[in-house]
Amino acid sequence: MEEGAVVAEGLTKRYGDFTAVDGINLTVKRGEIYGLLGPNGAGKTTTVRMLTTLTQITSGNAWVNGYSVREEPLLVKRSIGLVPDVSNLYDELTVEENLLFAARLYNAPIERVRELIREFDLPANKKFGKLSSGFKRRTTIAAALVHRPEVLFMDEPTTALDVSSARNVRNLIRLLNKEGITVFITTHNMIDAESLPHRIGIIKEGKIIAEGKGRELKELMGKGMVVKLLVEPITSKLINEIEAYSPTFDEGFIVVTVEDVDEFLEELFDLKMRLGFKVKRISTELPTIEDVFVELTERNGCSCGGCPL
Ligand SMILES: Nc1ncnc2c1ncn2[C@@H]1O[C@H](COP(=O)(O)OP(=O)(O)OP(=O)(O)O)[C@@H](O)[C@H]1O
Ligand SMILES: [Mg+2]
Repeated sequence: MEEGAVVAEGLTKRYGDFTAVDGINLTVKRGEIYGLLGPNGAGKTTTVRMLTTLTQITSGNAWVNGYSVREEPLLVKRSIGLVPDVSNLYDELTVEENLLFAARLYNAPIERVRELIREFDLPANKKFGKLSSGFKRRTTIAAALVHRPEVLFMDEPTTALDVSSARNVRNLIRLLNKEGITVFITTHNMIDAESLPHRIGIIKEGKIIAEGKGRELKELMGKGMVVKLLVEPITSKLINEIEAYSPTFDEGFIVVTVEDVDEFLEELFDLKMRLGFKVKRISTELPTIEDVFVELTERNGCSCGGCPL
């Protein structure tokens, strides 16, 4: 039996000639929240679908709760909950009827449905199709928990939710995790990525290109600070002079990562004297997961987010 709540070894999915997931290795420890972070089309949903037995693995294997996804799919299914990207509940059924249906599928006691409705504060008699996006998501999460799974897979649990509903879902995920549930989430929401997972895997074109705690991923950016500068005028001469810092542009700001803020300021002051621009605003920040994500996933393309020149 493999260690870890979720283990993938060389997990691969091909659609004809196209490789959607390309030899992924990962281990999610028991009790952990693991976040799979990646741009559209990176292979997040395909990975979740393989791990939850919904789509066949082309090569490699995976184990969930010690059960082989290839050889023991029913045991895997019984021990996991899944909140898919698009809800699998029925619009025409009420919240309670949907949960009762899920309970019947998993042989869970009816009392569990009442308990979930109470705990999640759900409108039992409302039709699922008539709920707001936030309550739809809460109900879908509740339905995934009827059989008290040890591992919960959630595919983009906060996508399409407003700020406060997304925050509610994040709080709910934290609470479930505190109660001992291992959580595997996919997201491209940077607030989720920054605040939820104990560890993050960044997936690009089917491959995990970086993995670790948020802090460890930020260290990949060097030990530096992010300096944001608003100067006038921005000239090609100025950009050339600071080329060594690989500047990017964000809503009119020049963004650079520097090892030594003091040294950079001296250089900037010297440039200001020579080129005669005005510094309107300047700030220093630690890199964010978003910075890491953009750096790693857009490295091959143009990383300039709208160069003003
Ligand atoms: N059934 C399928 N047949 C062929 N190609 C597919 C199929 N399902 C997914 N793909 C392709 O596999 C790649 C990965 O898709 P996947 O849905 O896993 O990405 P994702 O990371 O979940 O993206 P998103 O953020 O948009 O949800 C995409 O290029 C997609 O077009
Ligand atoms: Mg997806």
